Amino acid sequence: FLASTGRHRDHMGNEIDEQPAVARRVLDVFTPGIADGRLWGGAGLPPLDEIDRVTILGCGTSLHAGRAVAGVFSRLGGLPTRTLVASEAAHEVWEPRTLVIALSQSGETADVLRALDGLPERDRTLLALTNNPSSTLARRADAVLDCLAGPEIGVAATKTFIAQVLTGACLALSGLSASARADGLAIDGDLRALAATPDALAAALDAWRGRAAELATEFVTSPGFLFLGRGSGLVYAAEGALKLKELSYRWTEHQPAGELKHGPLALVDAGTPVFVVDNGDPRLEVDVAEIHARGGRVLRVGERVLTVGGLPLHLPRTGPSWGPLETVVPLQMFARELALRLRRDVDKPRNLAKSVTVA
Ligand code: G6P
Repeated sequence: FLASTGRHRDHMGNEIDEQPAVARRVLDVFTPGIADGRLWGGAGLPPLDEIDRVTILGCGTSLHAGRAVAGVFSRLGGLPTRTLVASEAAHEVWEPRTLVIALSQSGETADVLRALDGLPERDRTLLALTNNPSSTLARRADAVLDCLAGPEIGVAATKTFIAQVLTGACLALSGLSASARADGLAIDGDLRALAATPDALAAALDAWRGRAAELATEFVTSPGFLFLGRGSGLVYAAEGALKLKELSYRWTEHQPAGELKHGPLALVDAGTPVFVVDNGDPRLEVDVAEIHARGGRVLRVGERVLTVGGLPLHLPRTGPSWGPLETVVPLQMFARELALRLRRDVDKPRNLAKSVTVA
């Protein structure tokens, strides 16, 4: 796939716009192998019923993608699933019958490769989920899945995040389809949500193009931003906070909304911007009321009704097991718009590299 050439002067803007097309490509390739378990088996993975636990590791945005994928294994399959920050995996105790999924768009991140040094040779399977199937990580893995994002030039990962979440979700659904652990009805719901994803991403882009720019103008002098979510929405709050800090150099913090009252609420004052990722959890209404009561500005992402081709598309109240993926789009757009207003280089944020190959 060619690097994107689009209507923006920066790569990041074009890569954000490309996300619905990337999602379509991933789903065209991987969806046919879900229902019969072919995607899972074809990758050379042992049947899911021979696996006792899943450990997912990565850094930065890939770690967040891994957390979203973990939700599919745990929510739909009831599998014990952990996510590990790769740089903290040194003293990990690896148990037998573990599926290890290492996510890295470059496949060259030193922290990820080093985390695998401690992995036992036997009784585990290592799957690489990467945008570079000829990378060092891919060569070290027992199985490789290419997330098909195409070249990503912007240092801040955007379309590789979408591609990793969807590829990982397809893989997990494929393994679960052939497994006794699975909840068939829930899988059907997730398959419908998968099919709707490209349109949901496109609708989020359309809905937020003007709004992200307006909000960036309004909050250009704000020193800090809070990002809240619950359950499956939390990982998108984390990704939004990461995007905003790396691009704008503003302080950001993400928290499970239930933790507000245990500390972060002290940060909320008149006008404090607080992004709330709505995954349909009714408890978020109480969280939003708490912020309003302190004068905070609630910026909600995750409309439950999107307009696609002029028609309303109703998203399920509870959402799919990987969470409200489309909510990352407005968060990426806001981060870019704010950074542009602050005259930051959105493709090359200071102090950061696309791929960190030294530990
Ligand atoms: C760097 C990049 C991040 C990226 C992380 C992991 O820190 O700046 O955008 O998420 O590495 O990269 P990987 O190639 O392993 O996905």
